[in-house]
Amino acid sequence: MAKKRVLSGIRATGRLHIGNYLGAVKGMLALQDNPEYETFYMVADLHTITTAHDQKTLKENIREVVLDYLAAGLDPEKSTLFVQSQIPEHIELAYLFSTTTSLAKMMHLPTYKEKLKLHPHDSTVALLYYPVLMAADILIYKADSVPTGIDQEPHLEVAREIARKMNSLYKTDFPEPKRFVTEGEYIPSLVGEGKMSKSVEGSYINLTDSPETIKERLAGAPTDSGKGEAVPKEGGVANLLKLVELFQGEDKKKEYESQYLGEGIRYSELKEELAKAIYEELKPIQERRKVYENEPSLVDKILKEGAQKARKVAAETLLETKKAMGLT
Ligand code: TRP
Repeated sequence: MAKKRVLSGIRATGRLHIGNYLGAVKGMLALQDNPEYETFYMVADLHTITTAHDQKTLKENIREVVLDYLAAGLDPEKSTLFVQSQIPEHIELAYLFSTTTSLAKMMHLPTYKEKLKLHPHDSTVALLYYPVLMAADILIYKADSVPTGIDQEPHLEVAREIARKMNSLYKTDFPEPKRFVTEGEYIPSLVGEGKMSKSVEGSYINLTDSPETIKERLAGAPTDSGKGEAVPKEGGVANLLKLVELFQGEDKKKEYESQYLGEGIRYSELKEELAKAIYEELKPIQERRKVYENEPSLVDKILKEGAQKARKVAAETLLETKKAMGLT
């Protein structure tokens, strides 16, 4: 039987943080190591430029994501690793898809509205087009599984709609892609509200952070008096306990919860131990990163071969689609 395909990507906004790692990369790793799947993982540089970006650092930022992918264990022997803009077929397929995509639907997508709120001066056609390009990223490989964060769900819904529409209008055979869900679905921000995000300073811990930096970043996370009638369900303390659960296990979290209801939590100790646990998980990743950092030509070769492999598949789907639509 043919293998099922997987595609995922992360935008190139610099080094990856533990939110990217738990929410997306861990899922990518799980599917890469499952022999039933053929995995395609990219850096979504074309999505990066849907909002204002710095052309001087973009290249570097693309490289940072590639290095973090390799460091985290994405393996070029098992996965096809590439940079999105090197496969121009994605853009061409996205254009074909846009002919079946409703403008009103794109304008009312919650992800679009949020992005616009965050970047009020970036009201561009590209931003509106974001989900269409993402649908093309996925469907050009006919991927049915997409390891990505929960915030991407509306975009996956658009991809499914496009697949259905294309299949019914043109008798193509696009699958309806589903999100591959990981345990660390939603990684809270260190600032007390929202999710961990590169666009909020102080909210994240990078995969490359030293033990000292991790400690400092945790030190800035808001807490309370350490005890009370009920364990907070949201805010700084809830977020810290979520991180404890993810990096130290559920039992440890329960221990702290009962301390909260009893003698009280000593946050300085909690943060110290949590910082240690996080660093323990990051250490092997940082060691592997060094190896790749010192071998730039190897990284270039991986990306070149990845692009060749990806392009072959992408070109086939594109041609098929053009034929189905009556273009060739
Ligand atoms: N929109 C995704 C994000 O912000 C990145 C992305 C682009 C992506 N294309 C994709 C994710 C295709 C999964 C599949 O994280």
